[in-house]
Amino acid sequence: MRIDILSIFTDSYFAPLQDSILKRAQEQNLISILYHNLRDYTTDFHKTVDDRPYGGGPGMVFKPEPLYKAIRDIAKDGCTMIMPSPEGTVLGQDTVKKLAVQPHLFFICGHYEGIDARISDLFPIEKISIGDYVITSGSLATMIIIDAVVRQIPGVVGCGESVEQDSFYSGLLDHPHYTRPAEFMGLKVPEVLLSGNHKEIEQWRFEQSQSLTKSKRPDLWLKYIRLQDDIQFKNKEK
Ligand SMILES: C[S@@+](CC[C@H](N)C(=O)[O-])C[C@H]1O[C@@H](n2cnc3c(N)ncnc32)[C@H](O)[C@@H]1O
Repeated sequence: MRIDILSIFTDSYFAPLQDSILKRAQEQNLISILYHNLRDYTTDFHKTVDDRPYGGGPGMVFKPEPLYKAIRDIAKDGCTMIMPSPEGTVLGQDTVKKLAVQPHLFFICGHYEGIDARISDLFPIEKISIGDYVITSGSLATMIIIDAVVRQIPGVVGCGESVEQDSFYSGLLDHPHYTRPAEFMGLKVPEVLLSGNHKEIEQWRFEQSQSLTKSKRPDLWLKYIRLQDDIQFKNKEK
């Protein structure tokens, strides 16, 4: 997968994308990330990317000209253009999975008050929100989206760190995890995990996932139950 990032920050801002699992994914050529600085598309001496908002009010807005030039230069046929934005579809596992099978993602990162609205009229840009709160920069949101998406690409997460067992993959939250010692501050690891009986361990983990989802995320639980009903119905029809 090719990933382009257009922002006002230099590569060093994106340090989390250059470490750990994402670093390995790039070393294995499973993904390549290209950074583009919006200031390189300006024409004035001060490399101005922003201006005051029409109508007044606080903050600055990204000017359309450098963005237009940059997008025309970077976007290729078949690339998916994404703009992190509080008004976008809230990121969830469905969107993550959909993005993970795309060959080319292009992130357009806002900052300050945002981006001149005409840019999203001119290009087919998908807006994605990382939740109902405001952060300082689209570049930060971009890193979160990329991390979630790249984890889903086959081969990125090694054996022993299975993505399939993560929360949300199957529609349920993950089960609790324990490691040595078997007793800590008087608290014991559940007996079944020490039994060596893999079938029973798997069953216990599944039940824990179910009850955690039911109690902590009733909305997810309802979605999961509906999906299971649909699967059963379709299997009966076959
Ligand atoms: C300070 S915010 C601008 C907030 C904007 N004035 C508003 O109230 O919606 C600057 C940039 O951060 C990014 N951003 C902020 N919150 C976000 C969220 N929840 N999801 C995705 N991107 C976000 C967007 O790219 C936005 O243009």
